[in-house]
Amino acid sequence: MASLKYIVLLTLAVLCGTNFCHGTQCKLVFHDCGSKEGTLNSALFNGTCSSEGHALLKQGTTVSIEFNFQAAKTETKLTSKVAGKIGELPFVPFPLGNPDACKDSGLTCPVPANTNVNYQPVLEILKSYPKVNVIVKWQLQNAEGVDVFCAVIPASITD
Ligand SMILES: *[C@@H]1O[C@H](CO)[C@@H](O)[C@H](O)[C@H]1NC(C)=O
Repeated sequence: MASLKYIVLLTLAVLCGTNFCHGTQCKLVFHDCGSKEGTLNSALFNGTCSSEGHALLKQGTTVSIEFNFQAAKTETKLTSKVAGKIGELPFVPFPLGNPDACKDSGLTCPVPANTNVNYQPVLEILKSYPKVNVIVKWQLQNAEGVDVFCAVIPASITD
């Protein structure tokens, strides 16, 4: 039995060494909610996903989502607007620490037209957040307040 345990631990150690444990990303399921001046191609989450591809937001952790999108025209200013919906309640704004997508989030602005770029915002999942299923609405808006992308992302807050 002891040797079996050793083999399991060794396997885990090897997998972790090959970036299996850290730095992996899961592909989030999302629905478009009215992108007007661009397209969201994919959303990769650096935490754990459920089998359905929903983000599991663990309380007390810092997570990031890598949005790969393209803008229909050159954009000089991009701002994130995030809201959450629990059950039948309406969407409630979720204040971001850094809503400026052109600052400290992997993007270089101006963002050129029709070019795939990565935007990687960071989110703090506070311990005080309730353990609920939440529908996250993420809008990336340009200087005119028009959605470059709008995505609805199902998630769960877990402990
Ligand atoms: C996910 O990214 C955030 C922000 O860069 C980082 O603090 C966190 O440790 C990362 N999580 C994992 C599991 O790599």
